[in-house]
Amino acid sequence: MAEIVVSGGQRLNGEIPVSGAKNAALPLMAVTLLTSEPVTLTNCPDLYDIGTLTNVLRGHGAEIDASRIGEGAGSGLPVLHMHTPEIKSIVAPYDLVSQMRASILVLGPLLAREGKAEVSLPGGCAIGSRPVDLHLMGLEAMGATIALRDGYVVAETPQGGKGRLQGAKINFPKVSVGATENLVMAATLAEGRTEMFNAAQEPEVVDLCHCLISMGAEISGVGTSHLIIDGVDRLSGTQHQVVADRIEAGTFAVAAGMTGGELILKNGKLEHLGSLATVLEASGVVCTQVAGGIHVVSTQERPNSVNVTTEPYPGFPTDLQAQTMSLMVVARGMAVLTETIFENRYMHVPELIRMGANIEVDGRVAVVRGVEKLFGAPVMATDLRASASLILAGLAAEGETRLSDIHHLDRGYERIEAKLSAVGATIERQE
Ligand code: UD1
Repeated sequence: MAEIVVSGGQRLNGEIPVSGAKNAALPLMAVTLLTSEPVTLTNCPDLYDIGTLTNVLRGHGAEIDASRIGEGAGSGLPVLHMHTPEIKSIVAPYDLVSQMRASILVLGPLLAREGKAEVSLPGGCAIGSRPVDLHLMGLEAMGATIALRDGYVVAETPQGGKGRLQGAKINFPKVSVGATENLVMAATLAEGRTEMFNAAQEPEVVDLCHCLISMGAEISGVGTSHLIIDGVDRLSGTQHQVVADRIEAGTFAVAAGMTGGELILKNGKLEHLGSLATVLEASGVVCTQVAGGIHVVSTQERPNSVNVTTEPYPGFPTDLQAQTMSLMVVARGMAVLTETIFENRYMHVPELIRMGANIEVDGRVAVVRGVEKLFGAPVMATDLRASASLILAGLAAEGETRLSDIHHLDRGYERIEAKLSAVGATIERQE
């Protein structure tokens, strides 16, 4: 079983290229189901999750030129050519959807284009129950009939799947990135106007809207919580560049903070870091936008403790909670972290404690008392972002940290060990 082995104590210095965002690329791939014309994505990250969705889309009839994508992080094919002349199957099977929850993103496009869809329910996942009720609520508001049968969502548009989805007013009781994306895609081909209130404003949602607009969709309010979509009869093909991964950039910014380092995060966008930049600055890590990327410099030997509460964008991202906890673990003082998005997202805590961290968890609140030193240890990755937090801790720890179960890491970070070793970290993958 492959492991990542880190020997801590090196100060990171240099330039790291930021990849295209996984969480933007996945919904952008589902867009191919909305049009019979070719869609090309550039700056696509080469990750296992992209390979999984490729298989789901191929099952629906998409032709995807991605021979090397998904074979393993780093095999490298940044351009994804997709073409779905016709939908050959409306079924997204359990064995694929259960591998990756984001497969649910095919539901809206299949219904909008084909009038019918049968998509397996994703089931639970490591970081919480993660229901899809908001996706279904929105599609029902647009006139779809939805039944749950044998673990599948079985949905059809009015008139037994022959009619179109109908524009509707959708008021999300809770901000959901996935539900906003699914329903925006569905609404582009619906009849009439769809208005969404309390929609997600994440940069990945914005990127999806821009891509859809380039295909002829009529969307206004992009980047706000109030989206207005006027349905059109058809969408054309397009070529679109996937936005840079703010979570990957944020992870490397924390790495600079943990090692007293200085990095240029090439292609990174500071405005997308949102409140992470504020937290980092308060901790003594200064981020500035420079030509071509983000400059990150650690201004003090030990970071300051900063309290953090995860929230929908532009609030602090839950996908950076684990990594930021690693920074607080070595900071001066005490930090209180509150996770408001997912109910079980502290699985990195017992592993960090094995490295010498002082953390107490009570429900959604974690109290971190900074320690002067961490010690390398064998640790286990439990989910994607938890894996990254353990690598960060390993960079600051004395001695060797061996991270096992790294398939989680390969779902979302492209060649993380190569990128970190290029800026001075002692890190390698051992097969
Ligand atoms: C996306 C991201 C994920 C990130 C999360 C929050 C992708 C592939 N994944 O996940 O990395 O951590 O946004 O920024 O882009 N909820 C419901 N009902 C629903 C849908 C969601 O109750 O129908 C709840 C969830 O349980 C959670 C909250 O809403 O508490 C936010 O979830 P959501 O934004 O939908 O997350 P994802 O889109 O799954």
